[in-house]
Amino acid sequence: MLDWTDRHCRTFHRLLTRQTRLYTEMVTTGALLHGDQARHLDFNPEEHQVALQLGGSEPADLAACAKLAEQWGYDEVNLNCGCPSERVQRGAFGACLMAEPALVADGVKAMRDAVSIPVTVKHRIGIDRIESYDFVRDFVGQIAEAGCEVFIVHARNAWLQGLSPKENREIPPLRYELVHQLKRDFPALTLVLNGGIKTDEEIAEQLQHVDGVMVGRQAYHEPWQMVDWDRRFFGTPNPALSREQVEADWLLYLERHVASAPYASWPQAMRHALGLWNGQAGSRRWRQIWSDHQYKTLAPRAVAEIATQARIGVAAHVAEKAAEKLAAEAGVSATAA
Ligand SMILES: Cc1cc2nc3c(=O)[nH]c(=O)nc-3n(C[C@H](O)[C@H](O)[C@H](O)COP(=O)(O)O)c2cc1C
Repeated sequence: MLDWTDRHCRTFHRLLTRQTRLYTEMVTTGALLHGDQARHLDFNPEEHQVALQLGGSEPADLAACAKLAEQWGYDEVNLNCGCPSERVQRGAFGACLMAEPALVADGVKAMRDAVSIPVTVKHRIGIDRIESYDFVRDFVGQIAEAGCEVFIVHARNAWLQGLSPKENREIPPLRYELVHQLKRDFPALTLVLNGGIKTDEEIAEQLQHVDGVMVGRQAYHEPWQMVDWDRRFFGTPNPALSREQVEADWLLYLERHVASAPYASWPQAMRHALGLWNGQAGSRRWRQIWSDHQYKTLAPRAVAEIATQARIGVAAHVAEKAAEKLAAEAGVSATAA
């Protein structure tokens, strides 16, 4: 997810789940071929399994970028056929590629010929007002013939005119049944459902119909939810038992990051972890302190101490108030008895 799932974010998520597959932000072929490759491609070894998502449409460029992905050690290269932004449409890639399945098939084939890591596609169920199932079925069929075996389907249309990218993630209705139908029609393919999934129960329910579930916004905003995924969905022990443990490991990472280069600063990494204590007493204070400009020049461990003290202070206050309330209620019921 652009601006969200950078290497810091992915490293943070790895403290919560080891088994899930993580995806980079979309990187355009132009940025990779003509820009700073290391800046776009470097990642931390603990991020595996990690997929590089490409934005582009020229088969030769896609093949060259897939090669880079493989050389850099990515586990998968994914082609974006779902982004509706105007900038991306001007570049003639993203969701508008769904109208050009032959070009996507050529791109997939060129990438597959260039690398041995899996080449996958992320797409929508349709574009604009095309609502028929046949459209997405024929798209998947044609790309599968070019050798793609894994499809990640954001289960709503992309409306290419009149909606912002944000609205395009909210307004076109979700139609999970189309993705289920794809799995029934293409049982040999791996179908991963995406869009609007919030709870572990919803993930479990979708796994009755498809091979995998991709979770975007919910995982980013409520990262602690991921802590039970390894046990629940992969049958392996969870990597962390407590938020304190995750915070301690994350702090070590922030310190390593700050020490890694003279210009490296921790706030750009820490912004992805601000949801760690969500739902717990004191989480708002904790978040406020980590986001407070006056602390940005301090070492991360110093900020962590202030933030933890503040969080525990609020938590103690909340606990005290709850105890007082219970005592008052007990007093009232003792009097009533
Ligand atoms: C801030 C943001 C950036 C996104 N960037 C990308 C992207 O680079 N590539 C992509 O395929 N989808 C991107 N998406 C879409 C998500 O991957 C996902 O398809 C969409 O949010 C629906 O899933 P969700 O309801 O689980 O979030 C982005 C979403 C958000 C909120």
